[in-house]
Amino acid sequence: MSIIETIKSRRSVKAFKPDPIQEQDLMSWLEAASYAPNHRLNEPWEIKMVGPETRARLNHKTDFGSAPVVLAVLSKPGATPFERDENVMAVSCYVQNFLLAAYEAGVGVYWASMGALPQNREILGVSEGYDVIGLFGIGYPQEIPAMKPRTPISSKISYLS
Ligand SMILES: Cc1cc2nc3c(=O)[nH]c(=O)nc-3n(C[C@H](O)[C@H](O)[C@H](O)COP(=O)(O)O)c2cc1C
Repeated sequence: MSIIETIKSRRSVKAFKPDPIQEQDLMSWLEAASYAPNHRLNEPWEIKMVGPETRARLNHKTDFGSAPVVLAVLSKPGATPFERDENVMAVSCYVQNFLLAAYEAGVGVYWASMGALPQNREILGVSEGYDVIGLFGIGYPQEIPAMKPRTPISSKISYLS
């Protein structure tokens, strides 16, 4: 698959088979993702593997589609609001790389933003100043949702003199 085909055909997955994810595969996607662009090579991503007790406390509406693996991706604090924004941008690039690396291996990801809620930050033990970019359910898809069409990009482009 070309990179363009890969980008366009990846879907957010909401229901997973119970089949486990091999630890070394997961680590290889997390490691590959770290080649994302990041300012001053500060590598602002941090990952928390979510165990069963923490997962139960998060009380997600579908338990992350029964994904065999759940993890949280955090963005490090910045010295200034500008730096903090840059960190969030870099970690978003990291996450997209991760989604694509997993997808290439036939694995789907459920991105849930509820990790950023104050009570969930506490459950996840997130230190002050960190941003929770998302909680991610990861597994082999039970079903793959249909593609959601995008707005023609030409309508998003403006031209400056
Ligand atoms: C920052 C961010 C937060 C998201 N949070 C959620 C979420 O809380 N629940 C959810 O079902 N999907 C969430 N998603 C996934 C989007 O709903 C999904 O990407 C979108 O519907 C497009 O579908 P696709 O990824 O299959 O192309 C999130 C995506 C992003 C980038």
